[in-house]
Amino acid sequence: MATGMRLKLKTVFVLYFMVSLMGLVYALMQLGQRCDCTEHDLPKDRTISRLRGELHRLEEQMKKVEATKSPHQAPKSTPPTIFVITPTYSRFVQKAELTRLSQTFLHVPQLHWVLVEDSPHKTPLVAGLLADSGLAYTHLHTATPKERKLQDGDPSWLKPRGAEQRNEGLRWLREDRRAPQGADSQQGVVYFADDDNTYSIQLFQEMRGTQRVSVWPVGLVGGMRYERPVVEGGKVVRFHTGWRPSRPFPLDMAGFAVSLKAVLANQDACFDGNAPMGFLESSFLQGVVTMEELEPRADNCSKVLVWHTRTEKPKMKREEALQAQGLGSDNAVEV
Ligand SMILES: *[C@@H]1O[C@H](CO)[C@@H](O)[C@H](O)[C@H]1NC(C)=O
Repeated sequence: MATGMRLKLKTVFVLYFMVSLMGLVYALMQLGQRCDCTEHDLPKDRTISRLRGELHRLEEQMKKVEATKSPHQAPKSTPPTIFVITPTYSRFVQKAELTRLSQTFLHVPQLHWVLVEDSPHKTPLVAGLLADSGLAYTHLHTATPKERKLQDGDPSWLKPRGAEQRNEGLRWLREDRRAPQGADSQQGVVYFADDDNTYSIQLFQEMRGTQRVSVWPVGLVGGMRYERPVVEGGKVVRFHTGWRPSRPFPLDMAGFAVSLKAVLANQDACFDGNAPMGFLESSFLQGVVTMEELEPRADNCSKVLVWHTRTEKPKMKREEALQAQGLGSDNAVEV
């Protein structure tokens, strides 16, 4: 009985060994069939050599195109950066205004946004908006001294707004560009863009080549359809404005840009927060340029590319009524 069992077991082992050996031999034979494999690779090889040919042809074409380019065209240098200095302050429409502005700026190449909050600290709302904006930016803040601040109910023209914030922007710019890191570090244009105006992206093309101070019309300002410098023979000779045309520079803040060079060369030029109404722009420009030097843009100041729009203050009657009942909107929702 016992020997019979042992014999059977032996047979099973032998059979198992034979089957494994056959499998191994078959696998080795498959490996050896090289001809089959090359036949499979042939179409692949053909594709590779065809693509190599194509690449070579394209490389030749590129070389030809490069050669036909005029040798005078030096490697394209980047256009001068436009530094946009924007004063802003907390209010219901702030995020809406800054969103609109930032999304206009996204269309402008080489733009650096210097956003200056009228606040004793940087607010999370503005910090978050800038971080998500996709723009190159610098976030600054400085609070307007109390005695210079407009009180609720004061008409907006009573005291100039944003003087301290624009000066803070200028201070940062002069500090940041003080040590020239290269020939290009002083190439740039400075523009003061309030957060409620409407800007055509074409305006930024117009100002990019500013040598000292460039000027253009501003729409819907000063109680008129537009204000503008009047240009004769390519020079600014006077100003079309409805109010005190005798001011040194009867220009709106949105109506001029200054070259970075001029800002750096005139370190003392700044906005006088105590300037009488309508003289804020003059207080800065007087230290930088003369009327004869103004560079008219926008087809000799015949085109309006920026509008002095004003956003209506939203009414909060119902919100306040609901708040009184403890049913006000969720403060955790940023608006
Ligand atoms: C501006 O006016 C000057 C002088 O009349 C003229 O030569 C020049 O072509 C004008 N420029 C534009 C852009 O219209």
